[in-house]
Amino acid sequence: MSPSLIKKFQKRLLAWYHDNKRELPWRETQNPYHIWVSEVMLQQTQVATVTGYFTRFIERFPDIETLARADLTDVLKLWEGLGYYSRARHLHRAANEVARRHGKEVPDTPETFRRLPGVGDYINAAVQSIAFGHPLAVVDGNVKRVLSRLFLIDTPVNQAGAHGLFYPYAEKMLDISDPSSFNQAMMELGAMICKPGASPCCGQCPVSDLCRASITGKTGAFPKKTASKKIPIKEMAAGLVFHEGRFLVIQRPSEGFLGGMWELPGGVLEGNVSIETALGERIVAQTGVQVTPIQHIADVKHAYTHFKLKLSLYACCLSSGSPSLEKRSGDLRWIGVGEIESYPFHKAMHKCFPAAIAWIRRRLNTIIEE
Ligand code: ADE
Repeated sequence: MSPSLIKKFQKRLLAWYHDNKRELPWRETQNPYHIWVSEVMLQQTQVATVTGYFTRFIERFPDIETLARADLTDVLKLWEGLGYYSRARHLHRAANEVARRHGKEVPDTPETFRRLPGVGDYINAAVQSIAFGHPLAVVDGNVKRVLSRLFLIDTPVNQAGAHGLFYPYAEKMLDISDPSSFNQAMMELGAMICKPGASPCCGQCPVSDLCRASITGKTGAFPKKTASKKIPIKEMAAGLVFHEGRFLVIQRPSEGFLGGMWELPGGVLEGNVSIETALGERIVAQTGVQVTPIQHIADVKHAYTHFKLKLSLYACCLSSGSPSLEKRSGDLRWIGVGEIESYPFHKAMHKCFPAAIAWIRRRLNTIIEE
């Protein structure tokens, strides 16, 4: 695109953005920490879901120092349901580093900020451009779609290394006189007008006459994507280990998948034995508590990015007498139904809880009647 057409593109896009941008809580602030939190949440989650989470998070952790001093469990509790929990763990760790090493202020140089935990190219460009006006181009899924149609770029947007391929296009289009508005306008155009599939709103697009896909009627064929791999199904089981009005919950290791979140004990079941036997072995290995699964109470399904989960929930009782049951030890707790909301549980657990609670209530009523 010639320099004069690039100028035209920038002018039209920015005018459209100023007239049409959505009112969003993080657009009402210049606070770099608030902008950082919003971009971390928006990285893998839709705007409509993020707004509530963002407001609650900022109310509870209004500044870096408060976040740095917070317990990770409290941070995860506010992230509960948003998924991709490593984002919250990294943000918490980064806040600690900023509090210790950067005078409690978000570093305003891209090189320094980029070295913090969880800060990749996207977060770096988004925060440094929106909060400080640094001329870094943002390349996210929405921007790749816009660029792919604008220039008929054949590179699949989900291919490894696509970011590096799209970045030079984004950089060339960036309006360095207002990188903050320009980057947000590109993302907004992708979200509101240049929508995926065969349904972009080219009639309302301020730059459709500069867009090769729109001009040639090929918007439905762009962006290109590589065929996604078949998503495997994992079968797991979990135990509602119930004893004297309480049940057992454990915390996942702090790193890795769903790290730091709480759950009912259990997991993938292996070997040529019944589910009940395998679940019992699994729970004793995890918690040291000997149990017997006594009743199947629910099946739940949940879809993660890389696999689909089929989880069977079993009520279990203690099998050998009554070992000394400390109410809390390390990453293991005996809790009552009323305490569920004090812990961050991942989504599959919240899908189990209605059936688990109903089972507990029936059980308690039976005990009272006996
Ligand atoms: N998606 C992620 N960050 C965004 C922002 N700042 N504006 C619009 N869409 C976004």
